[in-house]
Amino acid sequence: MQELTSKKINLATKNMDKYEELRNILDNFDLDLRVVDLKGTEIQAFSVLSVAEQSAKEISTRTDEAFIVEDSGVYINSLYGFPGPYSAFVYKTIGLGGIVRLLKNREDKTAEFHSAIVYGDKGKVVKSFIGICEGNISTNLQGDQGFGYDPIFTPKGKNKTFAEMSLSEKNQISHRSKAARTFAEWLEKNQ
Ligand code: IMP
Repeated sequence: MQELTSKKINLATKNMDKYEELRNILDNFDLDLRVVDLKGTEIQAFSVLSVAEQSAKEISTRTDEAFIVEDSGVYINSLYGFPGPYSAFVYKTIGLGGIVRLLKNREDKTAEFHSAIVYGDKGKVVKSFIGICEGNISTNLQGDQGFGYDPIFTPKGKNKTFAEMSLSEKNQISHRSKAARTFAEWLEKNQ
């Protein structure tokens, strides 16, 4: 009898929160996600998709194994999409307090989280997947779960921030979970 083995996928990241969220989704599709130290250069571009695709292109020249790159960011509408691809930098510099202050006198507090997953295998970039989660930036920090902007992001239709949700609650609606599910469903049909 043939033994069933799950497909190994390498994730190029240093962010273990991202890894946990992605693993939690991909486990359901029998995909075995592993963290590898393979990060490509992060170019400057407005869309997280362009950033992830460039990084995947580079990584594909260095490995024949299956891998994904995930790049994400928060796009605040009244700030013309800022910080977008600069989310990690802005988080480290002005921080969540700085973002809340920037929005203090703005009525429109709507924002979107974007996640781009790019899949590569056998030394080639294969396909890209996008997930978007709409919501609002809150007026103060709430909750201690998750990471990054979670304490100030309330997804549309919910009355609590991502940081007030368990991982599985966040994974029902988050940008990253949408991109990951689309990827896994595509892989199931196409491999
Ligand atoms: P990168 O994808 O590693 O370039 O980092 C994107 C940055 O966006 C992270 O460091 C976080 O600050 C922020 N970010 C991306 N996704 C999330 C999320 O699901 N929750 C909170 N912050 C996030």
